[in-house]
Amino acid sequence: MSKGHVKSEIPNHIAIIMDGNGRWAKKQGKPRIFGHREGVRSVRRITEAAAEIGVKHLTLYAFSTENWNRPKFEVNALMTLLVDTLKTEIDSLHKNNIKLNAIGDIESLPFLSKRALLNGIEKTKNNTKMTLNLALNYSAQLEIVKASKAIAEDVKNNVLKVEDINENIFQSKLYTKDIPNPDLLIRTSGETRISNFLLWQIAYAELYFTPVLWPEFGKEELLASINDFQNRERRYGQTSEQIAASKKP
Ligand code: IPE
Ligand code: IPE
Ligand code: MG
Repeated sequence: MSKGHVKSEIPNHIAIIMDGNGRWAKKQGKPRIFGHREGVRSVRRITEAAAEIGVKHLTLYAFSTENWNRPKFEVNALMTLLVDTLKTEIDSLHKNNIKLNAIGDIESLPFLSKRALLNGIEKTKNNTKMTLNLALNYSAQLEIVKASKAIAEDVKNNVLKVEDINENIFQSKLYTKDIPNPDLLIRTSGETRISNFLLWQIAYAELYFTPVLWPEFGKEELLASINDFQNRERRYGQTSEQIAASKKP
């Protein structure tokens, strides 16, 4: 049975490193982009499932700053896929009361990708069921550097004192300033690394690694990861006894 965790507790924020599209395509003897297309179907399935289950924030790692180093045709195909997907999916996101958001260096995205993204964000900005955060051109290390620079600027302009810098101030300078930290981080495809994703924000996230490739990750796998999460005890540095005592009515 669950240890100190209410069975029905749904993670408020799930973040996913969607990995394995290329290997999935290779298994079918198809080009990598075929895997990315199939990966979009998983994005749709998982977004709908997460909203339905009651997850409030879903963050999907769609493109890292390091992914620019892939072959040019793959990068171009991914950017085109992003624009096409945003165009075809935004109405259904809107209908499902889902708010689109993006984290990463959005300014440096190709014009068409940026425009499709900003249009989608604008259209869905008042939706309340769930926030879908796309991590695009995202690097956690760059995010931390950017936050440090913003803080340095504030100190230079005398709006902040060095002695007042703390975790909350730092957090307020991150792309994720309006989003609570993830409770559950999932990575598909069997890799057990973080690949420059949400380094600050996952300080106390529960990590879940599955061998399932992203195009094959469906609602059942999502529920399995949530079930695993519910059977963990989040201690935040305390003892098991303290956690149990704090949960008593
Ligand atoms: C994840 O799948 C999608 C992106 C990084 C854009 P990959 O393309 O990394 O698939 P593998 O890891 O090569 O199988
Ligand atoms: C991480 O996957 C980035 C995304 C899922 C967008 P990668 O496939 O790029 O990660 P590495 O290169 O295996 O670490
Ligand atoms: Mg990969």
